[in-house]
Amino acid sequence: MTAAAPAAPVVAIDGTAASGKGTIARALARKLHFDHLDTGALYRAVAALVLRAGGDPASRADALEACKAFRPGIVPDAELRSAAVGEAASQVAVLPEVRAALRDYQISFAAQPPGGRGAVIDGRDIGTVICPAAAAKIFVTAGLEERARRRWREIHARDPAKSYEAVLEELTVRDARDSGRAAAPMKPAPDAVLLDTTDLSIDAAVAAALEAVRGKLEA
Ligand code: CDP
Repeated sequence: MTAAAPAAPVVAIDGTAASGKGTIARALARKLHFDHLDTGALYRAVAALVLRAGGDPASRADALEACKAFRPGIVPDAELRSAAVGEAASQVAVLPEVRAALRDYQISFAAQPPGGRGAVIDGRDIGTVICPAAAAKIFVTAGLEERARRRWREIHARDPAKSYEAVLEELTVRDARDSGRAAAPMKPAPDAVLLDTTDLSIDAAVAAALEAVRGKLEA
């Protein structure tokens, strides 16, 4: 009888909108040769499908209809990244049925990452709900005004009419909705390393995350 192969390690990166968690997760995956899963893109895809159908992202029936049509990769990246889709994503993400519909895909990815070496998964509830046994967990945040500046710079090229104040307001609403919801609220896992990127360059934030993760993976 052969022993079961040990499960591939999972690095869980959770955090607030525009904190840098996606950039950090992609960089860690590249450096560790792990696969990366952006779980926000799953919620964004469900939201985009609701909007395409002319539905209401706060409606349970409309969101569940979109979940039935959902397949990874079904919505192009440019459509996923719009501010309207981000806002609608945080509305569909409140619904426990939507979270349940996306859970199996995330758990399977964590258990069997396509490359077989390990997975870096980013989102809001990875360390708390999807992979509570993750080998390493980081909760990334940054001051609200700095996050609003980053998000405003990101969207300015494609939406020059959008003001910094409007972006700040949207992030405030989204933070409150993400951390205030009953189903899998955004919060650091008790064993997560907290990483505040307010005053860090991307390189410095990635280096800090890598150091925290390497310590856990080698432990
Ligand atoms: O990039 P940004 O941080 O703005 O957003 P995102 O990570 O793409 O996530 C969009 C929305 O999906 C979030 O505001 C959350 O409401 C929701 N989400 C979630 O509830 N759980 C996750 N694991 C990932 C995203």
